[in-house]
Amino acid sequence: MNPPIIDIERLVGELQQLATISDCPEPPPAVTRVVFTETDLRARDYLRSLYEAAGLAVRVDAIGNTFARWEGSEPSLGAVGTGSHCDAIPHAGLYDGTVGVLGGLEAIRALQAAGFQPRRSIEVVMFTSEEPTRFGVGCTGSRLMSGAMSPADLVKLTDEVGDDYDTVRKRAGFSGDLASAKLPNGYYEAFVELHIEQGPELEANDLAIGVVTAIAAPAQADFTVTGEGGHAGAVLMPRRRDALIASAAMVSAIDSVARASKSPDMVATVGKLEVHPGAVNSIPSRVRFTLDLRDIDGANRDAVLKEIEDEVDRIAVERGVKVEHRILNADPPAISDKNVVSAAVSAAESLNLGYQEMISRAYHDSLFMARVAPMGMIFIPCRGGVSHRPDEYSSPEAIAAGVQALALTLASLAG
Ligand code: GLV
Ligand code: MN
Ligand code: MN
Repeated sequence: MNPPIIDIERLVGELQQLATISDCPEPPPAVTRVVFTETDLRARDYLRSLYEAAGLAVRVDAIGNTFARWEGSEPSLGAVGTGSHCDAIPHAGLYDGTVGVLGGLEAIRALQAAGFQPRRSIEVVMFTSEEPTRFGVGCTGSRLMSGAMSPADLVKLTDEVGDDYDTVRKRAGFSGDLASAKLPNGYYEAFVELHIEQGPELEANDLAIGVVTAIAAPAQADFTVTGEGGHAGAVLMPRRRDALIASAAMVSAIDSVARASKSPDMVATVGKLEVHPGAVNSIPSRVRFTLDLRDIDGANRDAVLKEIEDEVDRIAVERGVKVEHRILNADPPAISDKNVVSAAVSAAESLNLGYQEMISRAYHDSLFMARVAPMGMIFIPCRGGVSHRPDEYSSPEAIAAGVQALALTLASLAG
């Protein structure tokens, strides 16, 4: 078929409009949108209005995953899915996830405008909470849809104020039976997610499209270190069991262990540290810090995770503190489906877009969709490879190229 025409001004306008629905104290392009907040709900309302304007049938499941369906001529066949997430970590940019949701919608609108009639239905999904911000575990929507997490495990998750997942989702208006969110077998014939690369390779290689062949294995954990508090003036240094000083040594050891790994793909991040009681003249008695650890090879990642746990335990003994570990998730990597990869490659070729096959170092809902559907992803370049920052940026041309490639990929998979 002819290249579908993307209304890039409309799409960029929608991305910018969505970015105004934010809890970030700074204006857009800085964005904060955390799952099940008022802001998240307003973003969902905005999306629904766009879906309905495009004539798509909207369905919301028990956890708030939102499906907008363009019915195919054979609606009983497995659908072709696309989509991503609209939640944004604190102080994020405006493209992570949103390009895949609004770009998925634009791909459908472009195919509609081109007079294409799909045989299989095409669905754009907005997954609930790809980001782990509120409950410590990311991709809760796609974990539940794919059966990677059971409802029983999901409702054990709590947010920072101690509210459990079930309470929070119900308060936000999502009340169905969580078990019903699991997709039936064969629901999707294929799933393909459009996303910004969040790394520098495409820009460095001057390529428009990355066709993802695998998604790296992420793990997240948290550690609670308990020492002894006291008066900052009165407790002399030899008597101290300062939880923050012990944590500092642990954080530094985590960095060293990851750097010492033979795998160049091993990355470790401590992104959050809470100090109790957090007073200038009080010795920290308790610290909680998080760990995000990833590698392309799941076994390698697990071995380093074990090494980090051992190091943390050793430092706790050395410093006279106690430490508790909690592994929140340790997921295997996912491999893309060869037919989805070849559909994306053919799309890039037919549009004369330079492309490469590559690995996704970030995780995505597609990591879990791969468990229930042949999966693939299309990446577009972002400036400097920057992401999870307000200065994240993909040009209108880059987005338009990605959406065109997505549209052709969807058309070919939907028949
Ligand atoms: C997703 O946002 C990730 O952290 O990879
Ligand atoms: Mn993200
Ligand atoms: Mn994302």
